[in-house]
Amino acid sequence: MDNSWTQDNLESLQSHILSEEQKHPGATGEFTWIVSAISLATKAIGNKVRCARIQDVIGDVGSINVQGESQQKLDIIANTIIMHCLGNRDNVGVLASEENETPVLLRSRAEGGRYAVLFDPLDGSSNLDVSVGVGTIFSVLRLEDGGSREEAILQPGFKQVAAGYVLYGSSTVLVLTTGNGVDMFVLDQAIGSFVLVSKKLKIPSGNKTYSTNEAYTEKYSEEIRNYLSWAHKNGYSSRYIGSMVADVHRVLLKGGVFLYPTTTDNPEGKLRLMYEANPMAMIIEQAGGKGVCCGERILDVVPSGLHQRTSVILGSTDQVDAILEHTK
Ligand code: AHG
Ligand code: MN
Ligand code: MN
Repeated sequence: MDNSWTQDNLESLQSHILSEEQKHPGATGEFTWIVSAISLATKAIGNKVRCARIQDVIGDVGSINVQGESQQKLDIIANTIIMHCLGNRDNVGVLASEENETPVLLRSRAEGGRYAVLFDPLDGSSNLDVSVGVGTIFSVLRLEDGGSREEAILQPGFKQVAAGYVLYGSSTVLVLTTGNGVDMFVLDQAIGSFVLVSKKLKIPSGNKTYSTNEAYTEKYSEEIRNYLSWAHKNGYSSRYIGSMVADVHRVLLKGGVFLYPTTTDNPEGKLRLMYEANPMAMIIEQAGGKGVCCGERILDVVPSGLHQRTSVILGSTDQVDAILEHTK
């Protein structure tokens, strides 16, 4: 699909979601309501990110979040914006954030709360002060009957009804899947809309590029170290930005593989299952790629905690399989 819009092919995020909903018999349009809240929130977050050194929003707040990591001012601002924009959508029952220890229980299913939205409000925030791409990652689950609403969100990733991210990079890009392929939108600042630029994205195969923080090589398992030395001898190149959204977005568009394996420091892995690995794995699988952790499909992992961590290997099937061949 040609990436530029003209007067006769302009399609916004809203119009695209609505047209997609028409294809689902019995669609109620309530999902559009959630996507529009995500669109509004991420436009506002993007504005704050782009004003980072103009407004006093750079730096950390001196507090430690539930992850044991120092919180950046923009982590808090982004979290507050999303909580506000999604909180007033009356079909959202639960909001769960990387920045909040426990989920925010807004309304029961009986009161109309049929969806849970889980999110990493600002991913890669340690890169903010050097103007490197950062992003927002979101995952949408349907709230099923029974159980406390905290337990209700501990669903395996294959249950997600939608997943996506917004990358605040050289352009502001929204990538979204509702289980029927991956679509990409770019924020056209002139009209204030996310405009559709690519539909049904497919991750290219054959790109011999891996993305990992090689400073940890000595802390990786022997199998991962074997893969890396094999890759060094087989013409691979390396790209690593240190913001998962930016690294995964490059893998989605160009192929290759992103891996954040377990290390001796982080034996469970560093990245969070529910609002980093799962949404990204849904996107990558919907684009024809593969997402695994410790040999298992990421989307099959049954979670035991909102903030549980996992190893992550995400990429084109051929490149993920090249790693699996070394980690049998
Ligand atoms: P967050 O900013 O939400 O805490 O996420 C940071 C994550 C992820 O974006 C990135 O892939 C990873 O941290 C980078 O970790 P290292 O600095 O250890 O490479
Ligand atoms: Mn993150
Ligand atoms: Mn974050």
